[in-house]
Parts: sequence; structure tokens; C-alpha cells
Amino acid sequence: MDQYHTSKITNQRYRPTYHIATPGGWLNDPNGLCYFNGYYHVFYQYHPFSAKWGPMHWGHVRSKDLVHWEQLPIALTLGDQEDPGGCFSGSAIVKDNRLYLLYTGQHYYADHDLNHFFEVQNLAYSDDGIHFTKYSGNPIITAPKDNSQDFRDPKVWFQDGYYYLVIGSRAKDKDQGRVLLYRSSNLTNWQEMGPIAEASSAKDEGYMWECPDLFKINGQDVFMCSPMGMDKQENQFLNYSQSCYSIGQLDLSKPQFTGTPFRDIDSGHNFYAPQTFLTPDHRRIMVGWMSTFEGEPKEDPYGWAGVLTLPRELKIISDHLYNYPVAEINNSHHDKVLDDVITVSKPQSLTLSDSQHLDLQFKFSADGIDRLTWQMTDQDSCLIQLIINQQNVTLIRCGADPKRYAQLAGPLTELRILVDTSSVEIFLNQGWASFTERYYANGKVTHQLQSSQKQPIKVIAYSLG
Ligand code: FRU
Repeated sequence: MDQYHTSKITNQRYRPTYHIATPGGWLNDPNGLCYFNGYYHVFYQYHPFSAKWGPMHWGHVRSKDLVHWEQLPIALTLGDQEDPGGCFSGSAIVKDNRLYLLYTGQHYYADHDLNHFFEVQNLAYSDDGIHFTKYSGNPIITAPKDNSQDFRDPKVWFQDGYYYLVIGSRAKDKDQGRVLLYRSSNLTNWQEMGPIAEASSAKDEGYMWECPDLFKINGQDVFMCSPMGMDKQENQFLNYSQSCYSIGQLDLSKPQFTGTPFRDIDSGHNFYAPQTFLTPDHRRIMVGWMSTFEGEPKEDPYGWAGVLTLPRELKIISDHLYNYPVAEINNSHHDKVLDDVITVSKPQSLTLSDSQHLDLQFKFSADGIDRLTWQMTDQDSCLIQLIINQQNVTLIRCGADPKRYAQLAGPLTELRILVDTSSVEIFLNQGWASFTERYYANGKVTHQLQSSQKQPIKVIAYSLG
């Protein structure tokens, strides 16, 4: 009965040291991000019995500082009447000192075909933030008649005296992605308010919008979701599934969200299903899953799979969404391992004691730098390369993968790269653009920099992890 034992980690080779990963088993979406009784909580889609996606539980970690995470017991286990096929993604809210989780209960039909199911929304609660009880009145929401089988990932918030939630949905008639709004005064009885945003066409904006989120930053509403099936555009929406955002206004009286066309939240190969929450000091923090369902993570032979991104603070400046590692990361730097001013007209390797656990920061002149290449190489070949050509940024994951792109609004003045054993998170101009990537190195890793300009570059590196 091996499947009833948690998957064992058999090799530390690709394990991150300061990112959230499972203690053995598979991870996908972040769920239920919140602050409760002095701790930040992050839950995640979890299959404990193998390093492959399987019957979904909610794994659980908590932290005092958003950097050091403590593994807790599994928060939600599937198998009750309202979640026999899995506890799928969802969110959290605190009400009267009690932590509530809203999640999707998965139901498969007797044919056991994973593509043939129905989905309902359920509630669970906890007073200690560790042990959860499922609400006896589940399900709290079932799908409306005009919905296809895809109806999942509730994101809850409180506004003007009511609880609201959005649910990812696929309209039955048009077969297009949309998001549905619900309202409640008590978290248990929910009234359907209708669709508040819909794909313009399934080809352009996807047939199913997973993991929606809706929140305010400085009075503007931000809508995020992870559409499946969007057509690729020349320089964006290039992943198997995307995570997009739109900035606009939610009119609760209609109800309707109107906003800018979708844009990628992160331009890398490995970013999906992000969710956000508000810290007690009112910062909007996002965590995503560093992957998509495309390809097999190389750590899976070693008993685990999947990493969450660093918590990143979101800001809007001039109608653009910035994402940047939370300031708490700066407090956990161990040593400054490099502090130099260099010119790199020839490719130059940086001298770093631990090249795979780093916060690497480059500062350029106020006018910015026009041409720059950074690359990470292992004993065999190039792993990841970032090329700046004026405001055009190209990321190459060396090997067969297609490139990824971002366009800056001005010259590059700042570049920050956080490396953790098998992940790289790259932030340009304080998070105007970001690239999230997994990499799998063989042997010694070096970082190289080159620019055809003779401009002095300030380089600072801290060890982390
Ligand atoms: C997104 C997703 C969600 C679902 C969960 C299942 O990655 O497909 O829509 O709730 O993963 O694990």
C-alpha cells in the first residue's frame, strides 16, 4: 500500500533553500494566502503520495516573516461527501477570529475519467490556524445552469459590509472563459450576482479562466486570472497556460468589471495560478506557482515536484502592474559576497562563493544601459540567458525552448536576480517586468555579464538561504 505513504525525498540536488516546496510529493497552485493570529499562512495544492499531480489535498506552511516557512500538517484532505475527488484551489478569510477556507470540491463520475466531473464550492474553518473542520452545510455554492463542468477556485474578500467571491468559470453556450461574482453576509449563504468579466472570444482570451483574483491597489481594481487556451501573440501569452491581469474598475451595482486588455503578469516560462492577499500593513502580496502543467519537473524522480515563487509586492504605477520581492527578503541576507563596480566590455564571470543561493543586484547609470547580456552557465552549457537591447528584453532558456520577451517603458536602470538551487526570478526596473524560470544545473554554476558599452556597473550580491 505504498501510495498511502508520503513520497520521500531521495536527493537534495534541486531542492530550494528559501522557497516554499513540499516535504515530499507534488505541489501546484498557492491557495488560501492570509495573515492570521500572528502568522502568514500559505496553503498549496498538494499530492503527498507521489511527485505527480494526483488526488488534491491542501498542504500548509506558515511564517512570521514571509521568508522562513514552517511546514504544518495537511490542512484539507479529500474524501468527504462534498469533495470525494479532491480539494481544489481556493482562498481564505478571517471573520470573528476564525480562519475560513473556501475551496472547490471535486466530483468525478463513475467512469473515473479525469475529464468528466462537476465542481462545487465548500467551506472549512479553524480557530488555531492548524486544524480545520469542514462545514456541515457544504456545498455552499453549486454551478449555475448556464455553466459547463468547469467552475472552480473561489477567491473571497470583504467590501462595504458584504463578503464577495469570484469563481473561475467556462460558459456552456459560448465555451469561453469568464468569472462569476457571488455575495454573502455570512460566508455560508451566497447569492449569485452574474458574470462580471468574460473572454472576448475563446481563441483570444481562453476557454476557461482558472484561479481568478480581484483586489484594489490605490483605488484601482485589478483583475487577475489564469486563462487556459489563449492564442499566442507575437511577444506574449507564450506559455501553455497564462496568468494575466487587467487594471480597471469593478462596478458592483451592475455588476461588471471593465479594464485594460489582458497582459502577462510575469514573462517567464514558469509562472502560473498566482493569488494575492493583504498584509496587516496594507501591502498587496502575490505568490505564484513556478510552473505550468507543461512538461515534467526534473526533480520528480527525487520524490518531490514544484516550487512557489517568492512573495512579491504588487504596485501600480502609470497603469502598469509591478511585482517585486517583498522587503523582508532584504532582512534575511546572510553575507554581502560581492560589492564592486565593473565594466564588462568582454564577457566577465562574477566571483561568487555560492552561485546558486543569491540575491544579485545590478545598478546602472541614471540614463540606463542599452546593451547587456547576463547568463548562467553550468559545466556543460548555458542555462539561462537574458539579453537587453535598448528597451527590448529577451530571455532564452538554453536548449530547445522558445524565447520569452518583455518590453521596458524606459532604459534599464536596475536588474535583480534571485537564484535558489533550481529557480531564477529576474526583476527589471523594480519589477516593471519579471521572468520566473526553473533551471537544472550540472556541476558548477557561473554568472557572466557582458555589455558592448563601457559603462561602469555597480554589482552587489548577497548570499541567501
Ligand atoms: C490550476 C488548477 C485549478 C485547480 C487546481 C487543481 O493550476 O487547475 O484550476 O483548482 O489546479 O489542482
